[in-house]
Amino acid sequence: MSELISGKTISMQIKDELRSEVEQLKSRGIEPCLAVILVGEDAASAIYVRNKKKACSDLGIRSVGHDLPDTATQDELENLVQELNDDPAVHGILNQFPLPNGLNETRVIQKISPEKDVDGLHPLNAGMIAMGQPRFVSCTPYGVLQMLKRSNIDTSGKKAVVLGRSNLVGRPIATLLSSKGWDSTVTVCHSRTANLADVTSEADILIAAIGIPQYVTANMVKEGAVVIDVGINSIEDSSKKSGTRLVGDVSFEEVEAKASFITPVPGGVGPMTIAMLMVNTVNAARWQNGLPELQI
Ligand SMILES: NC(=O)c1ccc[n+]([C@@H]2O[C@H](COP(=O)([O-])OP(=O)(O)OC[C@H]3O[C@@H](n4cnc5c(N)ncnc54)[C@H](OP(=O)(O)O)[C@@H]3O)[C@@H](O)[C@H]2O)c1
Repeated sequence: MSELISGKTISMQIKDELRSEVEQLKSRGIEPCLAVILVGEDAASAIYVRNKKKACSDLGIRSVGHDLPDTATQDELENLVQELNDDPAVHGILNQFPLPNGLNETRVIQKISPEKDVDGLHPLNAGMIAMGQPRFVSCTPYGVLQMLKRSNIDTSGKKAVVLGRSNLVGRPIATLLSSKGWDSTVTVCHSRTANLADVTSEADILIAAIGIPQYVTANMVKEGAVVIDVGINSIEDSSKKSGTRLVGDVSFEEVEAKASFITPVPGGVGPMTIAMLMVNTVNAARWQNGLPELQI
């Protein structure tokens, strides 16, 4: 039977640490501030934005919402980003994705000042991760690393397999785990990987970020592996009032019996992502005021 890595518990610990940090910053006249841009009416995005603003308010971080209609143009959106870049009271800028059709996410990511890029998606910040000098790390990969660290899982010299190569999740996790200090030997898998189960079965640490419900089954997992499930997928479940429930990319019940550590969905990587956004926002405020980064 495996040990559960609770993102809920670890994210609460991190938020508790941040709360006193925010108080200290405020006593020095620095009020960390996150600007959150939401374009259009996407219901899931609205929930994510609400949760992020709620986390800010729980920690005493100021959040400023900017809601644009789905008729907003690329220029209007980029002009707003530029205003926020220029506003010294704003330390972090987050544009909730996906954007409505016709708007270009890459251009928005590149428009956000790298110093305020708390989502860690700007090419400069992605490049710094690749150079082994991470500054802003995108929130989900950062959360995964914290779960490993705070569960005392030794990554050095271990074989890690990352399922998924997105810029948001898979690629930065793989780069970070192979960097100095984490020192894993990393294999990245994707939709064209041949004999996937053979590759994943070798992993001491298996990270699933593909977006296919319950795809990773027990036969794909080595006995005693550490399994981190990043996936968030909604599946039909007639026993639920809503008719659906959330599952990860891992078949939890069968893999749990084989893994040494495993993360649940929900309550795993999800809450960590928001906690690390808060860390990035506090660090943004610190760096912009000449202070060193938090030791998290
Ligand atoms: N917990 C959180 O806070 C959080 C945050 C972000 C995302 N997520 C979840 O994490 C999952 C991945 O997100 P994402 O943004 O990285 O998704 P994405 O951009 O769609 O990328 C999915 C990746 O999985 C690969 N893939 C697809 N099918 C595969 C297969 N059969 N075998 C191996 N690899 C396969 C794809 O390969 P190709 O490159 O070849 O297409 C791609 O690299 C989703 O469920 C998402 O909801 C969770």
